[in-house]
Amino acid sequence: MPDRNPPISKLVEPDRVHKSVYTDEQLFELEMERIHERVWIYCGHETQVKKPGDYYTVQIGRQPMVMVRGADGKVNVLYNRCPHRGAMICGDRHGNTGEFFRCSYHAWTFNHDGKLKNIPMMESGYQGTRWNRDNPDCNMKQAARVANYRGFVFASLVADGPSLVEFLGPSKIAFDDICDRAPEGEVEVVPNCFRVIQNSNWKIFLENQLDALHPSVTHQSTGRAARDVEVQIEKKTGHAPLAYHMLSAFSTVTIDKWDNFQTLNYPHGHCILAGYMGLRPQDPDTLAYEKTLVKAYGEKRKEEILSTNIHHVLIYPGLSVQSPLQQLRAVRPLGVNKTLTEIWHFRLKGAPEPIYRRALAYYNLVNSPATLINADDLENFWKIQTGLGSDGGDWVSFARHYGRDIEKDGVLETGEGMGTSEAPMRNQMKAWSEFMARA
Ligand code: FES
Ligand SMILES: [Fe+2]
Repeated sequence: MPDRNPPISKLVEPDRVHKSVYTDEQLFELEMERIHERVWIYCGHETQVKKPGDYYTVQIGRQPMVMVRGADGKVNVLYNRCPHRGAMICGDRHGNTGEFFRCSYHAWTFNHDGKLKNIPMMESGYQGTRWNRDNPDCNMKQAARVANYRGFVFASLVADGPSLVEFLGPSKIAFDDICDRAPEGEVEVVPNCFRVIQNSNWKIFLENQLDALHPSVTHQSTGRAARDVEVQIEKKTGHAPLAYHMLSAFSTVTIDKWDNFQTLNYPHGHCILAGYMGLRPQDPDTLAYEKTLVKAYGEKRKEEILSTNIHHVLIYPGLSVQSPLQQLRAVRPLGVNKTLTEIWHFRLKGAPEPIYRRALAYYNLVNSPATLINADDLENFWKIQTGLGSDGGDWVSFARHYGRDIEKDGVLETGEGMGTSEAPMRNQMKAWSEFMARA
C-alpha cells in the first residue's frame, strides 16, 4: 500500500469511502484474492452447456476458468490451464470439446471432469518420473466448489465457507422469481451475451445498479426523446408499443417518485430494489401469458408469482439480476480501472413468444451496448474513475438518507419514502470491509 493511503481498516466509514478502494492496484489484487477468488461467483446458466463436451470459458477473479458439461450430465468448473506447461486448454470463448479436452501444445488429454486421460509417450517418456495417471497434479484442477441453484451455476475457489444457498440468503429470490415466472418453472439462456468493457472499477457498476436517484438525471434526455416518439405514436394510433414505455419511464418518473421505492440490504452485500415498474399490463399478450400460468400453477399461485414486487437483485460481488424482465448482468473485474460486463437474457420455458419479445426489447433498449441508456451510464462510470484518480478530494460520499436506515433481524431497510437512499452502497462497502479484513 502506498504510504499516502490509510490502512484497509480505515478506508470504509459508515457514510463514506476512501477513493483508493477504486484506484489502488494493490488493493485490487487483494480484492481478487479475498473476495472474488473466495466467495461464490456466477459462472453461467446450465443451458449454456447443453450437450456433453459443451464448454464456456469464464473469468473468476484473475483465474481463467472453463465450465463444461460432462458425459454424465454434470456441469464441472475447471481452471483453464494445462498441467503440463500451463497453456490454456480452451482458447475459444465457447464450443464443444468432443469426448475429451486436448491441449493444443503437446496433446495431453483430459476428461470433462479434468482428470488426465492420456499423455503422448506416457510409457517411454515419463517412466520413473512423477508424472503418471495417479498423480493429481496431472489433472486439470477443479474449482474447489461448484453449485447450481435452479440452473444458475456458481463456483467458489476455496473449499470452506457458506454453502451457495446460505451465501445467497434472501437474494436467491432473483432465481426463484425468474424461474417461477416460467410456466415450466425453468428458464433457458438466449445465446450469446453482449460484452462491454468499462473503463472503471467493478464497484462503480455495482453501486449504480440500485442507485435509484440517477435514472431521472442520467437518463433524462434518453427518456424524453423516447417519450416524444411515444406521444406521436399514441396520437396516431391510440397506443404505443410497450417498448417505448421502457425508455420513456426514465423521464416520466421524476426524482421525488423514485423515493417511493424501497431497498432491502442483506448480509454479504446483497441488495434488492423493490417496487419499481411492475410489469402487469393488461394487453392481450400478457393476458394470454397469465392463462398459461394459471394452467401451470393455479390462480392463487399465479397471483403470488406475478405480484412479486422486485425490480432488481444485486448479488455481491458480481451479479445484477432483473428477474421480471429476464435479464442478468455479470461483472468480471479485469483491472483496477477495467471491468467486463456480460449482459444475458433468458426465455421463460412454456411462456408465449410475445413475453420473450418483451424481454428482448428491454435487453436491446435498456441493457445492450447499443442503447443510449447504457452509454449514459458508461459515461458516468468513466467520469467517476477519472475524477477519483485526481487530487481533487479523498473521499466518496454515501450519506444520502444516512442514519435513517431501519435494521430488522440483520436486514437494513430504507425508511418509507427514502428509496433513493445510498443504503445499498453503504451495505456493499460494509461487506467489502468484512471480506477484506479476512486474511
Ligand atoms: S502445455 Fe499442454 S500438453 Fe504441453
Ligand atoms: Fe443507469
